[in-house]
Amino acid sequence: MADVLHFKSVTSTNDVAAEHARKGAAHLTVVTADQQTKGRGRLGRIWQTFPEGGLAMSVIVRNGNSALLPLLASVVVHKALNGLSGNHTVIKWPNDILGATNTGLKKLSGILIESYTDPADSQKRFYIVGIGVNVNTPPEGLPDDLAATTLQDVSGQPFAKEAVLEEIMAEFHKGLDLQHQKGDSAVVEYYRSHCATLGQNVRWIDGGQEVKGKAVDLNAEGNLILEIGGGDKHICSTGDIIHEM
Ligand code: BTN
Repeated sequence: MADVLHFKSVTSTNDVAAEHARKGAAHLTVVTADQQTKGRGRLGRIWQTFPEGGLAMSVIVRNGNSALLPLLASVVVHKALNGLSGNHTVIKWPNDILGATNTGLKKLSGILIESYTDPADSQKRFYIVGIGVNVNTPPEGLPDDLAATTLQDVSGQPFAKEAVLEEIMAEFHKGLDLQHQKGDSAVVEYYRSHCATLGQNVRWIDGGQEVKGKAVDLNAEGNLILEIGGGDKHICSTGDIIHEM
């Protein structure tokens, strides 16, 4: 198991992990915290970590295949949470893990990957894979407007946050090994077979742009391919997807 540096309260575990990486912390070192005062999500959103039940962890990745890291990270977190939940989770492109609840699929986990130049060698980069998981349900429940769920709600049982972290890191090691031995296609195949976005009518949003279409496939780089009518395709590499009913 890699080194785990645990803090009571930080701005964002991604910031602290980047600080440690700049000082030379090893590949797959993990930073966790009970509380984040400035937890952040993708596309400039805020990420709330519930102290009783939220897991906030950031993993330092050195020499990663940067293009496929978002897919690999989703595969790793999905494998871990799907196993713990009893097969009740799916992936939503690009990086969300959704859990099945009585009222539909809701967000269980989100991933934010950030890239930095390595001060020890300006030709190299390191990556911080920040993972937020709603593990246990706070006594007052999650705010309705978050459209979120917890591993406890999805599986019917509470979990120790440390056990969830260990499972994610075990899958991280296995995922990197799989990619090393079998190549990127093994990662893309797993992602494809667990991605709830594929086959759906969706809206793609990025900044001011919006495109509607049917999500038909992923390409080798993990971009989402939309059929947008008239035989035209749109390739989504950034931004967000909304599943239409
Ligand atoms: C998203 O769904 O938009 C991504 C959420 C990522 C949240 C995690 S919690 C640990 C790490 N620290 C942060 O500030 N963000 C990530």
